[in-house]
Amino acid sequence: RLAKRAGLSLGHLRISVVTTAKYLIPHWLGEFCEQYPNIEPEFQIGNRAEIIQRLKQNLDDLYVFSNPPRELEIEAEFLTHNPLVVIAKQDHVLKDKHNIKWHELYYERLLMRENGSGTRFAIEAFFKNKNVKMQNPITIASNEAIKESVMAGLGIAIVSRHALNHMAPGNLIELAVEDFPIPNSWYWVLPKGKNSSSAAKAFQAHVNQGLSEQVNLGAP
Ligand code: PGA
Repeated sequence: RLAKRAGLSLGHLRISVVTTAKYLIPHWLGEFCEQYPNIEPEFQIGNRAEIIQRLKQNLDDLYVFSNPPRELEIEAEFLTHNPLVVIAKQDHVLKDKHNIKWHELYYERLLMRENGSGTRFAIEAFFKNKNVKMQNPITIASNEAIKESVMAGLGIAIVSRHALNHMAPGNLIELAVEDFPIPNSWYWVLPKGKNSSSAAKAFQAHVNQGLSEQVNLGAP
């Protein structure tokens, strides 16, 4: 059991994260609150555009983005990897194939997050960079609804591997598509020059420490 640090009065901890990070942060928040029972966390989740608005208004102590808004004056620190993978229904015709080329999937319906989503932003940048033609997507504004729709046979999608693994309906798979996963990472973000609260500093240290221990133990 974790030792409680009841003596430390760290106050509020306001964290805002993009939707993909909601699969990661609560795990660490639970442990952290056990260690620091005096802390009062407020946890906000939104797409990239929504979290940028919060950042601009300086509403929170700490932010997590996978595509930090470089056009703003910010400080970003690497948190961990967030690879984006192609998902399909488990009986997909290419399920056992290696090195699938994107053009083999071109006639599939592609389900994508809404404009304003960092996941969509990263996917569009990837296709543009590779000079690969991407089909017009069907927009679905939620990772969970995308997973359900793929499971129901509506099409394929590109999502964070964390979104696939956490709380995923059992019958989804990752397809082995050439050049995938799209490399992507999460970052801790603060407005430049903002003094981090002691609660935010302690939480950041707690997560960084936990992740480095996982890596040392060989966890994914
Ligand atoms: P979002 O989160 O797609 O909900 O904006 C993603 C991100 O930036 O990882």
